[in-house]
Amino acid sequence: MKGIVLAGGSGTRLYPATKVISKQLLPIYNKPMVYYPISVLMLAGIQDILLISTPHDIGLFERLLGNGHQFGINISYAIQERPEGLAQAFLIAEKFIDGGPSTLVLGDNIFYGHNLSAMLQKSARLEKGACIYGYYVDDPERYGVAELDDESNVLSIEEKPTNPKSNYAVTGLYFYDNTVVERVKTLKPSSRGELEISSLNNLYLADNELKINILGRGMAWLDTGTHASLIEASNYIQILEKTQGLQVACLEEVGFKMGYLSKEDVLITANQLKNSTYGDYLLKTIHEDSC
Ligand code: G1P
Repeated sequence: MKGIVLAGGSGTRLYPATKVISKQLLPIYNKPMVYYPISVLMLAGIQDILLISTPHDIGLFERLLGNGHQFGINISYAIQERPEGLAQAFLIAEKFIDGGPSTLVLGDNIFYGHNLSAMLQKSARLEKGACIYGYYVDDPERYGVAELDDESNVLSIEEKPTNPKSNYAVTGLYFYDNTVVERVKTLKPSSRGELEISSLNNLYLADNELKINILGRGMAWLDTGTHASLIEASNYIQILEKTQGLQVACLEEVGFKMGYLSKEDVLITANQLKNSTYGDYLLKTIHEDSC
């Protein structure tokens, strides 16, 4: 299973904060936003990742993340010339996917909660069809919305409907089988000129091959779409990290815990960052693991 992080978009809704920098590079408390979705792919067991961004921003992502080896993963990069829809990511990634299954995570989506890793790893074993994640929200009209029956089967998916058929938002995390590229090639741009991810999900639904996992109320799916929600997400992460003394989406720690990195590997980064709380945390993480 290969992973794609889509960190495109013009970010105009957050201007001027995002006038010269990509939204997905803004900090959520103590690390860039994109760390959080990358950690989701890593926790799913995915080590080959393609990051897609705009011509303007791609260089910054490369400077930040490099080849990914410091996290125990491989990161390569591709450009989305214009914001022509989330599903276009699979056309851009066609060579990278190389005929296999793939997972897409949006660069501004933050997930947190107990047992998330086990759920993700199960989804990443998908061989046929598609698997999406739903989350109960108060304002479903802002998202893709899944209508469900009593047994949580998907009945319909609508993109930003005026009258949502349920409160279940479709989150920005999608697992697809090896037919995804061929399916995207059959999509037509929507009225706003985009290849919609909801249209792709509807293709799988029409073939009875779309499954949804509901993230329960004990899980967090944090919004980063407004200035207020950005600061709320930062506060949420700060409170969690302060209470537990454990970081969320510390990629070196995730790499170490997943067995992608050795203690010696983590030590190299810890020493490079030793003047920061992040570096101190890495040192503590490897030390405690040996206790
Ligand atoms: C996109 C998708 C939408 C999904 C959302 C999750 O919307 O089009 O279906 O619910 O991401 O973050 P956007 O945030 O790009 O408007």
